[in-house]
Amino acid sequence: MALMDLPRPGQIAVKNIGPFDLGRLARLHRGCFEDGWSRSDIAHLLSLPGGFGLIARCFDRGFSAIDGLRGVGFAICRVVRDESELLSIGVLQSWRHRGVAGTLLEASMVRAHQAGADAMFLEVAVDNVAAQSLYERYNFKRVGTRLDYYHRPDGRKISAYTMKASLHGPRSLPGQS
Ligand SMILES: CC(C)(COP(=O)(O)OP(=O)(O)OC[C@H]1O[C@@H](n2cnc3c(N)ncnc32)[C@H](O)[C@@H]1OP(=O)(O)O)[C@@H](O)C(=O)NCCC(=O)NCCS
Repeated sequence: MALMDLPRPGQIAVKNIGPFDLGRLARLHRGCFEDGWSRSDIAHLLSLPGGFGLIARCFDRGFSAIDGLRGVGFAICRVVRDESELLSIGVLQSWRHRGVAGTLLEASMVRAHQAGADAMFLEVAVDNVAAQSLYERYNFKRVGTRLDYYHRPDGRKISAYTMKASLHGPRSLPGQS
């Protein structure tokens, strides 16, 4: 790696999820959700036509990986013809409020648009105010409500909003001109 390419503190690097990332991704998912998805759940989603995943990595001085980059967040999406869906997004608790989810969401929208989608849909629990704020910031609008959509591990059922964003001309990825 050239000196110029060394990661900097605060930098958020986004890369495609490959087969060697499945274990890391399942650990990240478990770190973000009470009912985390297994490695095989994730492998199944990514193997569906149009499925893709992104992982966000941040420089962590104490991390022993050769490049010092730690996986801190992820997004999993699917593109079907001219529509796409954000299936899951999460950032580890200690790495939140640094723009990681925003970077992942923007990269997902650009990638889905490049794959032919004109719109992105998602579901978000009605009590997940943090995620709703994130999505609104990226121009997602509420287009419906699904009653009792999520079944929480404690047995509660929670409704979800369906949100939609147009992908016509999404902003370019951070760092790209
Ligand atoms: C929702 C989540 C992905 C946000 O991750 P993050 O990396 O902290 O988000 P970012 O730092 O990129 O924030 C981008 C914007 O989202 C909104 N936002 C993020 N966290 C927020 C919070 N706790 N309260 C209110 N708004 C919030 C803000 O508008 C923020 O912009 P700002 O920092 O300029 O105010 C993270 O809290 C998470 O992983 N939660 C658990 C998993 C989850 O709920 N996933 C979504 C399922 S639908």
